[in-house]
Amino acid sequence: MTSIQIAPSILSADFCNLERDLKAIANADLVHVDVMDHHFVPNLTLGEPIVKRICEVTDLPVDVHLMIEDPDRWAPEFAKAGAYSVTFHMGATHAPVRLARQLHDMGVRACFAVRPAEPVEPIFDILEEFDMILVMTVEPGFGGQKFLGNQMAKVRRLRDEITRRGLDTKIQVDGGVSPTTAHIVAEAGADVLVAGSAVYGAEDPAKAIDQIRDNAQA
Ligand code: DX5
Ligand code: ZN
Repeated sequence: MTSIQIAPSILSADFCNLERDLKAIANADLVHVDVMDHHFVPNLTLGEPIVKRICEVTDLPVDVHLMIEDPDRWAPEFAKAGAYSVTFHMGATHAPVRLARQLHDMGVRACFAVRPAEPVEPIFDILEEFDMILVMTVEPGFGGQKFLGNQMAKVRRLRDEITRRGLDTKIQVDGGVSPTTAHIVAEAGADVLVAGSAVYGAEDPAKAIDQIRDNAQA
């Protein structure tokens, strides 16, 4: 089994001290950037110019999570901004395979996301097109929500399918991940754990990252 990766979400960072807060998570594996548009979700965050600066300032790979309408139009712009991976939602895209291939042509990893009420089985037919599948464990839009443990059945079905077909598609879990829930998502088969409030709400973000990693691998 490959080791668990931790991706702190800067949604819970201080947007007026982003550089400081990026330095505070240097022991993470990725930095998770939530892009929201006031349409796909009822919240608004940041766009390509800020993602570009984050990519310039941090040494970590930047994992962009698009919670926006029309990712078919906008996802390539985030690839151009320097993202390591770009995630778009099942409920927002019209042509997921075409978009994944476009991102790959740009040298960027493509990731497909499902909301809590969306099934994962429709992705099985196009699993090979993606580097990672994101299973949301909260309704997208806000940090600090309660972890939805009932999504673990979905993670398990996905893990079984990936294993059965011998793929190396990663599984990411996002929402309510903390030192307490880390072992639950890891046991279900997740590889990449996103954590916002559990990292930036902690007194020592780097320590919180280590705790999540240790608990996930315990
Ligand atoms: C929610 C975002 C998450 C959010 C997670 O829509 O996609 O990345 O920052 O925050 P926590 O870890 O606080 O649930
Ligand atoms: Zn996210």
